[in-house]
Amino acid sequence: MVERTLVLIKPDAVSRGLVGEIVSRLERKGLTFEAMVMRTMDEQLADEHYAEHLEKAFYPPLKAFMISGPLVAAIVSGDQAVSVVRGLVGATDGRAAAAGTIRGDLSLSNRENLVHASDSAESAEREIKLWFPEH
Ligand code: TYD
Ligand code: MG
Repeated sequence: MVERTLVLIKPDAVSRGLVGEIVSRLERKGLTFEAMVMRTMDEQLADEHYAEHLEKAFYPPLKAFMISGPLVAAIVSGDQAVSVVRGLVGATDGRAAAAGTIRGDLSLSNRENLVHASDSAESAEREIKLWFPEH
């Protein structure tokens, strides 16, 4: 079933010059980029995007990191795109993520882990509305 998912290529990926590598991994899998924009999150968008994490202890430093510089937001589509992209991205903590995944190969951090990917079809539609209201 063709699905859409929201991908954020986070500020650490932009500053490390890994945007092309990350886009390339998703494209080589056969996924399609439907829309893409470079943007810097503000506090309000961060709070809306991460609504489920607002009360977590890790949220203040996460928010500071996410608004620290430009990121790339994209709508990615394909067969079972939500779970396929999560699989390519890997586990949240880059230190524990499996080799072969984006985080497993390229991140050594539980916060600066390069990519956000929606965790369900419902989250994807909510997040796409937030980032790409015209889509
Ligand atoms: P979460 O939604 O649990 O992870 P994922 O991005 O894999 O869906 O958490 C959102 C982001 O919050 C995560 O990508 C990195 C950050 N984070 C921390 O900084 N510390 C933590 O302990 C956790 C769980 C997440
Ligand atoms: Mg999540």
